[in-house]
Amino acid sequence: MSFNVLGSGSYVPPKIVTNEELSRQMDTSDEWIASRTGIRQRHICTTETASDLAIEAAKRALESANTDPKELDLILCATVSGEVICPSLTCLVQAGIGATCPAMDINAACSAFLYMLATANGFFCAGMEKILVVGTEQMSRVLDWTDRSTAVLFGDGAGALVLGKGENFLGYYLHAQGDKDILYIPTQNYNSPWCQRENEKPAVSMKGQGTFRYAVNAMVRDIRQLLEEKGIREEELDWVIPHQANRRIIDAAARRFPNIPNERFYCNIDRYGNTSSASIPMALDELARSGQLKRGDLVALAAFGGGLSDGAVLLRW
Ligand code: UT7
Repeated sequence: MSFNVLGSGSYVPPKIVTNEELSRQMDTSDEWIASRTGIRQRHICTTETASDLAIEAAKRALESANTDPKELDLILCATVSGEVICPSLTCLVQAGIGATCPAMDINAACSAFLYMLATANGFFCAGMEKILVVGTEQMSRVLDWTDRSTAVLFGDGAGALVLGKGENFLGYYLHAQGDKDILYIPTQNYNSPWCQRENEKPAVSMKGQGTFRYAVNAMVRDIRQLLEEKGIREEELDWVIPHQANRRIIDAAARRFPNIPNERFYCNIDRYGNTSSASIPMALDELARSGQLKRGDLVALAAFGGGLSDGAVLLRW
């Protein structure tokens, strides 16, 4: 017993920030951003929060799955940029969509959507029948908008899937390698009179090239490992949906799979930037709604990010 995907949804805030607009605020250019990353624009929250994005994406997924929120057995949300630590962001989503089931957050940074699918699979094995999974990020609230090396890379958005018991989750491979030097987002102490640690800037810091190398190697290793374990050949894959962090990372990984045509590696980073845990479900929803991703397609998902963490998932859509 595993699960089938019953429906998908996604949502981005309406405000678009182009590379040109960023170039007016910091020492950067459309040419630098587009050629180094493939990003042309990103959606950024103005009045919305990560839970607002999640609620809208969840409602759209429930509608496409023709599922009443009261039918859900569990909701899981992934985020590193939620506006709350307590209650969990997922509890806000539960209230926002009118569900009554248990709800909890999962944090595995940009890899979290895959960790969440594997977690959901465990709950299906334990007898659950319907689970909502959401990746949601308001990365704009954890960026230092004076730091051009990170600010230009990320965007806000949410993606959601409704899962029902079935047989189409074919396997996963998860990996972590604890390291806070390469990618780091601290929180701040409030006002403990005893705390002797200095508050750190509560914003993303990243060693770009270290992350780049880790990302390409991890993505290639994880997909290969999973295909080998399941006895599936590269050319049988209809789609590879990688975490959208950098067009050059996706291209570099694609070159290492000579039997998978390049166009099967889906990339929409030009319009959204890196939306961390939301990027894979947003891409799945976009592909499904455009009719390109069809029922029965064999799909590999691959993600990497803070942790460091990474993983791959194999499923039939
Ligand atoms: O989901 C989380 C995972 N994150 C990632 O996967 C990110 C992985 N890393 C990357 O995508 C790339 O390493 C970056 C896009 C972050 C950077 O690209 P790069 O080709 O590795 O550039 P770099 O860091 O080596 O910087 C090259 C130059 C530097 O100037 P100098 O020292 O050569 O004079 C930077 O100061 O580009 C400069 N630079 C910029 N210039 C214009 C850095 N950011 C910018 C900018 N605009 N926004």
